[in-house]
Amino acid sequence: LASVTSTSDFVALAHPQFPAHQVRVKKSDFCDSTVNVYTGYLDVDYGAKHMFFYFFESRRDPDNDDVMMWINGGPGCSSSLGCSWSSYRHEKRVEQWTTWNPYSWNSETNIFFLTSREVNVGFSYAEFGETIETTEDAAKNVHAFLTIFFETFSQFKGRPLHLAGESYGGRYLPSFGSYVYDQNQIAIQAGRDTLNLTSILIGNGVVDYTKIYRGRHEMECATAALPVPFQSISVCVQQKTALTRCEKAMQASCVEVHDEINCRAALSFCQEVVSGTYAHSGRNVYDISKDCIGDLCYAESGAITDYLNQPSVRSLLGVESPGNFTSCNGELGSAFSGRLDRTTMSQNYIAALLDRGVRVLIYSGTYDWQCNWVASRLWLEEMEWGGAERYRANAFRDWAVDGRTVGEVKTSGLLTFATIYGAGHMMSASF
Ligand SMILES: *[C@@H]1O[C@H](CO)[C@@H](O)[C@H](O)[C@H]1NC(C)=O
Ligand SMILES: *[C@@H]1O[C@H](CO)[C@@H](O)[C@H](O)[C@H]1NC(C)=O
Repeated sequence: LASVTSTSDFVALAHPQFPAHQVRVKKSDFCDSTVNVYTGYLDVDYGAKHMFFYFFESRRDPDNDDVMMWINGGPGCSSSLGCSWSSYRHEKRVEQWTTWNPYSWNSETNIFFLTSREVNVGFSYAEFGETIETTEDAAKNVHAFLTIFFETFSQFKGRPLHLAGESYGGRYLPSFGSYVYDQNQIAIQAGRDTLNLTSILIGNGVVDYTKIYRGRHEMECATAALPVPFQSISVCVQQKTALTRCEKAMQASCVEVHDEINCRAALSFCQEVVSGTYAHSGRNVYDISKDCIGDLCYAESGAITDYLNQPSVRSLLGVESPGNFTSCNGELGSAFSGRLDRTTMSQNYIAALLDRGVRVLIYSGTYDWQCNWVASRLWLEEMEWGGAERYRANAFRDWAVDGRTVGEVKTSGLLTFATIYGAGHMMSASF
C-alpha cells in the first residue's frame, strides 16, 4: 500500500481478470492513529454499484500478520457496526465513540471491513437505484475484491486469509469461502496465484434457520442461557406446543421442498407464535440481560450513525454516497426475507470446506436470543462431514482467559465451536 499516500484522492486499481470491477482506495486518518488506515470503494458492474470498505493494518506486525476480512450480517446491515474499534458505553457521548479499544481485531491482524453485497446500506450506494443481488453474486464481488487487493499490494500476497463475520454472515461466509476455494482450483489450473484461504470464523451466525426457534425456546424455557428459566410456565407450554408444528411446517415447506408460500407462512407462524412473546417483551433480542433501547436495540447504534454522519467524518473517510449512513436498511432486509434467502442450509458449504482443509470457528455469546448458541449447537451436531463422528463423541470442555472460565469449547479436526458466557449478539463490536 506504499503507493497510496494521498488522504484526499482515491487511487484506482484494476485487474484484467475482472473488467467489471475496480477498487478505489485512499489513506485515512480515521479512528486508529497507531496504524495505517485506508478506506475506499469496490466498484461493481462497471461502476454501477459502490461498496464501501475500511482497511486497518495490524497493530502488532503488519508485515507478517495474517489478513482478515470482516462482513456484517443483516441482511441489509453495514459492516461498520462490526468495526470494533470502539469501547463506547451507554453513558458516553457521541464524540467519545471512537475511544481506544485494546481488544480490537486489528490487535493481531490486518483487517478489512467490507459491505458484502448490499447497496444503500452504510456508505454503499448504487448509481441507478436499488438492486438486490444473490449471495452467490456477492461471492464473485468479494473474490474480485480480494484478488485485486492481493495482486496490487503484493506485500500481503500469500498471507493466510481469514473470512470472518457475524449474524447473517453465517449465510454469506460459507458461500463466499466456497467460491474462493473453487476459484483457487481454477487459478491453479491456469497457473495463476491463489488466495490463501485458511479459515472461516462465524460469530452468533445464522447457518441453519430452522434451528433458531427451538434455540430461542430453550433460552427462555430451559437453562440454555440462565440457571433458571425466565419465561412463565404458561407461555413455555404454549411455545412448546407451537414449536412442534413450527418445525414440522418448516421441514415440509422450507427444507424438503421449497414451497415459497408455505415456507413463508411457516416462518411467520414460528416468529409470531413461538418467538412472539419475547420479541414483543421489550427485552433486547440480542442480549437477554438487557432492555431494547433504540435502533437495533442499542443506544450505541444510534450513536454510531450520528458519528458517521458528521460532515468531518464523511470527509475523513472519503464517503461519496449521496445519502446518510444507515446501519441497517429495513426494506432491503425484508426483500431478502421475501426471497427466503435465509432458509438456505449453509452447513453444507461448511462441511465441504472442512473436508478440503479450511479451518472453521463457530463462536456464540450465550445471551444472544436472536441468533442463539443453541441453534448452532444443534446444527453442528447434525452436520455431515468427515469429522462428524468424532465431533459428536467429543465432550464440551471449559475454556479460560487469564484463569477465568469464560465459556465452553468443543473441537474435532479443523472444526471448533466455542461459547462465550454472558456475551450478546454484538460482542464482536464490543457492545
Ligand atoms: C498460506 O499460508 C501458510 C501459513 O503462513 C503458508 O505456510 C503457505 O505456504 C501459504 N500458502 C500459499 C499458497 O501461499
Ligand atoms: C442527513 O442527516 C442530517 C442530520 O441528521 C440531515 O440534516 C440531512 O437532511 C440528512 N440527509 C439525508 C440525505 O437524508
